[in-house]
Amino acid sequence: MSKSVVIAVDGTAASGKGTLAKRLAAHFGFAHLDSGALYRLTALAVLQAGGDPADPADAVRGAQTIDLSLAGDLAIRTDKVGQAASQVAAIGAVRQALLDFQRGFLASPPGGSPGAVMDGRDIGTVISPDATAKLYVDARPELRAHRRWLELKGMGIERDEQGLLAELNARDAADKSRPISPLVQAPDAVLLDTSDLSIDAAFAAALALVSPRIEGALKDRHRG
Ligand code: CDP
Repeated sequence: MSKSVVIAVDGTAASGKGTLAKRLAAHFGFAHLDSGALYRLTALAVLQAGGDPADPADAVRGAQTIDLSLAGDLAIRTDKVGQAASQVAAIGAVRQALLDFQRGFLASPPGGSPGAVMDGRDIGTVISPDATAKLYVDARPELRAHRRWLELKGMGIERDEQGLLAELNARDAADKSRPISPLVQAPDAVLLDTSDLSIDAAFAAALALVSPRIEGALKDRHRG
């Protein structure tokens, strides 16, 4: 079987990478996986079991017991879970426990789809270094905090915007400075700054950046 086509979308917290990844997947008819949900589900499992997200044994147990059916659940979207996700994500054994699932998803996207879009922090660097196209999404921190505030408000969760900004900054700093799989722009990833772009404009920009490679790979796949 020919290799699946992969779009890796990495970037900072609340940069809009999830929305872009979803829209790219819908556009190309690809499967989509929000890898952040795996770390958030791991964190939720640890917290629900009364464990410590910074403890490797507790965190690995959490990763082994995640319930994927809760990926759409509001319970994983709280900042408490986000912070705990960043803690479990710094543990190498947790990342290892989640690696096969992510690579399996990319190698055989669900539904027989010819490709997959995965968003996260290390997709273009560690999970799929030979991805067909890679984006690194970022935006100014104040704008990201405002977007997250709006997103949470839409879910019925009231938060103080300054508190959200502090939380995003702390999480980015932790994600960028950890020794294992830090958040870093892959050398061959294209930077997309969404600060001054509407969602539609950001999607149009993302599409223009990845389309030549994706269309080419889909044609090759068809031929091969
Ligand atoms: O939605 P948001 O951008 O705030 O975060 P997320 O993508 O749901 O990820 C939550 C946390 O999981 C991040 O702060 C990272 O510490 C971790 N994560 C990771 O280490 N590697 C990934 N591929 C995805 C998420």
